[in-house]
Amino acid sequence: MDFLTLAANRHSCRSFTEEPVSRADIARCAEAARLAPSARNTQPWRIVIVDEQPLLGKVQEQTSDEELHLNLFTKGAPVLAAFVNEGIPYEPVDRGKMKGDNYTKSDIGGAILSFCLQAEELGLGTCIIGSFCADGVKKLLGIPAEKGLDLMVALGHPAPGEVKKLRRPAEDVLFYNGYPADK
Ligand SMILES: Cc1cc2nc3c(=O)[nH]c(=O)nc-3n(C[C@H](O)[C@H](O)[C@H](O)COP(=O)(O)O)c2cc1C
Repeated sequence: MDFLTLAANRHSCRSFTEEPVSRADIARCAEAARLAPSARNTQPWRIVIVDEQPLLGKVQEQTSDEELHLNLFTKGAPVLAAFVNEGIPYEPVDRGKMKGDNYTKSDIGGAILSFCLQAEELGLGTCIIGSFCADGVKKLLGIPAEKGLDLMVALGHPAPGEVKKLRRPAEDVLFYNGYPADK
């Protein structure tokens, strides 16, 4: 599969079959994430995979909310991956007018996309999850309170279903040599 086809085919999968995901496939997705770039090569991510009951069920309780009807699909995900944010392991340096932000969240976003694209290549489905009870998940997985947990990923074999890819047209997002005056 060429890269653009892979990128176009990846979509948020919110319905999985009961087929378990092999540890080899999980490790391959994690390897793609491990190889992702990061600011100053800090590699601020750690990945905690949950693929065993009864822990999985308990984590699923924290990634879904019946009352709000939010992320209920995570209860059918055979694998949930928690992307821990380790923070920046160095003192910020003075760069004058050159900005130097805390990039850990964008670093982790990049690692997660690599994870998801690798899953797509393996025929697996993923959905990035931003809405979940981070404190509850951290407690269950033994992640220290001071570490960040902004995003998780649901992973599994996709159940058959319709796929919609809604995106702004290219002319709305790509500009050459300056931001257009009419935007
Ligand atoms: C940072 C982030 C957080 C997200 N959180 C959720 C979420 O909590 N629940 C959910 O169903 N989808 C979540 N998504 C998936 C987006 O809704 C989805 O990527 C977007 O609608 C585009 O659709 P596509 O992934 O199928 O191309 C999240 C995506 C990102 C990048």
